Amino acid sequence: MSESTTATGEPARTVSGAEILLQNVTKRYPGQDKPAVDGLTMQIPAGQVVMLVGPSGCGKTTTLKMINRLIEPTEGSIVLGGDDVTRMNGDKLRRRMGYVIQAGGLFPHQTVAANIAVVPKMLGWDKARIAARVDELLELVSLDPEVYRDRYPKELSGGQQQRVGVARALAADPPVLLMDEPFGAVDPITRQRLQDELINIQAEVQKTIVCVTHDFDEAVKLGDWIAIFTEGAHLVQYDTPERILAEPANAFVENFIGSGAGLKQLTLTRVADVPLAEAEQARPGEHADAVLERMEASGRHHVVVLDDRGRPRQWLSRKQVRRAGTLTGELDPQLPVVSSRSTLNDALDTMLVSSAGAALVTGRRDAFVGVIDVDSVMEAIAAARASTRSGDYTAPVGTNTGVLPAADGHGGAHAVTAGDPS
Ligand SMILES: Nc1ncnc2c1ncn2[C@@H]1O[C@H](COP(=O)(O)OP(=O)(O)O)[C@@H](O)[C@H]1O
Ligand SMILES: [Mg+2]
Repeated sequence: MSESTTATGEPARTVSGAEILLQNVTKRYPGQDKPAVDGLTMQIPAGQVVMLVGPSGCGKTTTLKMINRLIEPTEGSIVLGGDDVTRMNGDKLRRRMGYVIQAGGLFPHQTVAANIAVVPKMLGWDKARIAARVDELLELVSLDPEVYRDRYPKELSGGQQQRVGVARALAADPPVLLMDEPFGAVDPITRQRLQDELINIQAEVQKTIVCVTHDFDEAVKLGDWIAIFTEGAHLVQYDTPERILAEPANAFVENFIGSGAGLKQLTLTRVADVPLAEAEQARPGEHADAVLERMEASGRHHVVVLDDRGRPRQWLSRKQVRRAGTLTGELDPQLPVVSSRSTLNDALDTMLVSSAGAALVTGRRDAFVGVIDVDSVMEAIAAARASTRSGDYTAPVGTNTGVLPAADGHGGAHAVTAGDPS
């Protein structure tokens, strides 16, 4: 979680995002008896990621679209970095807010480069500056500019389209990124990768991100803060993922978290945050006798065979080494490998299917960095629990009562929640 919050909306040096404040915002659609959003007051801290979650129809998209005024609030005001956006020119406002929707929402008849260049063009940037920015953004979202800039959206996979959508939203370097179910249309593996990428991108750009999802696990993974809504955008709990998992405000939140809250804690920790074990290493072409001798000496029961760039190829028991005679280094397609950026949840999945009950961890350029095992994961869970209990912080304000709670400087300042233990 990023530490610097600027209550004034003045961007701090390390944060390029701006604070957003929703004040008593209500949206009534014509012909509906109940408001879609009912008197919502909510502070969205600068440079942080706020996830809006809740069941279908609870008002998430309406809330998001009022922030960039794709939907006009019926009542209330929205303040961006100190300016009342309800009085701003809508087009100008939207240039200060990147907007990402499902499947990227790309223009089908324009190339990737043209799609990304939409806002810079409107802003009158010159061609060279636009071209440089397009390439820079494609690099940021892990697409090779040479390969992708002249393609059309239909020539891309769903995940690639989504990446271009993110690049387009970031094009003019807006302080705010609004995302509506951005990864809803891609398969689970691509989704996981895109989520990891968004985390990396955010570490670099430090935008204020408001992201709608109906997937609580995604909220835990991506959010600095999670806002849980019921119908009418009534805030049930607005707090850190850790706190919501540890102390759900009521039965609705508990139900929404679903089963396995303990396991979801694993989504909060990355493999890189856990101490890794060392492993015996060998090269293809080595003779079994020499390798077994080293394994005897070190007391280790498995050996990792690495290629000349340090990437794992095989993970063998003593028995397998003996049987091999000479190590072939032929890539084992079942090799349990996780990236150091993976969540412990994803790592655990990999470990559980591996016969060793552990996984090989790779870092930069897929080079081997160590071994993660179930014991170290269990220790990490225990440590995470302990730090949740002792954590002290000020949660952003969120309420539908219209009354701003007095800032008391203590954690868990969600005004709508009874029985806050802090
Ligand atoms: N354009 C519209 N006209 C009338 N009612 C709408 C319109 N858009 C959304 N609604 C209603 O407002 C409520 C909130 O919708 P929405 O913000 O899209 O919810 P969510 O994104 O949480 O699924 C729902 O009851 C929905 O039917
Ligand atoms: Mg929606």
